[in-house]
Amino acid sequence: MVREKPTWYETPAIQDMMTSLGGKAVRGVMSNYFSANILAGKVGLIGLTEYLEATLDPEDRRALIICDDFTQRYTKKVTDLLETIDMDYQIYAKVIPEVPFYQIEETVKLCEEFKPKVLIAIGGGSVMDATKITMFVYEKPEENLLLTIPIGSIGLRKKIKYLVAIPTTSGTGSEVTSAAVLTDTDRNPPKKIEIMTSEVVPDIAVLDTDFVKDMPPFLTMATGLDALAHSVGSYVTNWGTPYVDAMNITAIKEIIKYLPRAYKHGSDLEARAHMQMAATMAGLGFGNSIPGIDHSLGHSFGKVFGVHHGLSVGLFTPYSVDFQRKVTDRWMDLCPIFGVEIKGKQKEDLFKEFMQSLKDFIHSLDAPTCVKDLKNPVINKEEYVDKLDLVADYAFNDAVSLFSYRTITPEIMRKIFEYAWDGKPIDF
Ligand SMILES: [Fe+2]
Repeated sequence: MVREKPTWYETPAIQDMMTSLGGKAVRGVMSNYFSANILAGKVGLIGLTEYLEATLDPEDRRALIICDDFTQRYTKKVTDLLETIDMDYQIYAKVIPEVPFYQIEETVKLCEEFKPKVLIAIGGGSVMDATKITMFVYEKPEENLLLTIPIGSIGLRKKIKYLVAIPTTSGTGSEVTSAAVLTDTDRNPPKKIEIMTSEVVPDIAVLDTDFVKDMPPFLTMATGLDALAHSVGSYVTNWGTPYVDAMNITAIKEIIKYLPRAYKHGSDLEARAHMQMAATMAGLGFGNSIPGIDHSLGHSFGKVFGVHHGLSVGLFTPYSVDFQRKVTDRWMDLCPIFGVEIKGKQKEDLFKEFMQSLKDFIHSLDAPTCVKDLKNPVINKEEYVDKLDLVADYAFNDAVSLFSYRTITPEIMRKIFEYAWDGKPIDF
C-alpha cells in the first residue's frame, strides 16, 4: 500500500487556498448525486441473491464477507442465501472499531488469495469503511490513498464487480456514501483520516430490519445521533442541492419522530425500520454535500478522548449550527420540524428557542451537549484544557473543516472546544 503523510487536505497549499477563498468558493462544482441501489425490507436479501445469480457467471460467484466479531452472528442469514446460488464465500470477522491501516493489509491479502468478485460488508461504519478501503487498495495498490481527491476517476471495479453493504446500525450512512474513515495509527495520538471518492459508493445497500433490531439502547442512541448530526450539520452548511435538502429534511423529521421510540423501546420494529431509512437518507444528504463541522470537531474529540463517534458528533451539533448562523439562515427552516413557532419572534429569540429545542431533543436521549456533562467517559477539566491545542489542530486538519461554508481557522476551532466545555453559545 502506498502511503505518505499528510493527506491531501492537510497540505498547506490547499488549506491556504480554501481559507482565502472561503468554503463557499467550491460550491456548485460538486453537485453530483451518488447512491447505492437500495434493497429494503423483508425481500431485500432475496433481491440481492437473485441479482447476483442473474448477473454473475457461475465461475465468478465468489464473495468475501467482511464483518466483526459481533456482526458475525448475522452472516448465516446471508450465506444461507448465497449457497442457494452456489456462491463460494469466505468470512473475515476481525474488523476492529475505527479501522487502522494494518487491518486493510490483511483483508487485501485475503482478496489476493481468494479473488472475490463481490465484497459484502455486514456491520456498522467501521466494517463498511474497511470494506470500501479494501476494495480500493486491492484494485489499485499503486494509488496513494491519502492523496486521492474527491474529483476525478480512479478506475476501480476491474477486479470487484459489486460492493454490497448491509448495515447493522442506523446512523453512519456509509452504505450509500463516498466516504470512508480510517485511523492513522502511525501518528501519536492516532488520527482519524477520511478517504473520499465516488468509486467507493457501494453498488447495493440492503436495509433489513432484522440486522438492526438487536442493537442495545446506547448504540441505538449514539448511532441515531450520528444520523441527526449528518442531516442537521449538513443542512446548515449551505452546500445543499434540492436533492440533498430533501433527504436531510426528511431524515431530520424521521429521526425526531422515531429515534426516541427506537431508543426506549428496542422491540418497536416500526421505529427501527424508520430509523434505518432515516440514517440512509441522512447519508445521502451529507454524502452528496458535506457534513457540518460537528464532524471535524467530533472526529478529533472522539479519537483523542475515546468517545463514541455518534455521541461526539451529537454533542457538537448545536455548536456546528451556532457557528454557521453568521453566514446562513438555513437553521430557520428547521424550526417547524423541532416544533418551534417562527411567527412574531425576533431572530435572536427564535434562534435561542431553536437551539434549546435541539439540545432538549439530544438530552431526551440521555446524551450531553457539553463536555462537562459527558458520562461515558467522564473527562476532567484539566485533561481537557491540556489537550485543547491537539484537538483543535486535529479538527482543523480534518477534511470536513476545509469545506466549511464559514471560513474556519485553528484559533476558531480551539475557541469552539473551549465553549463546548460548559455549553457557552458562540458569540464570535
Ligand atoms: Fe458520522
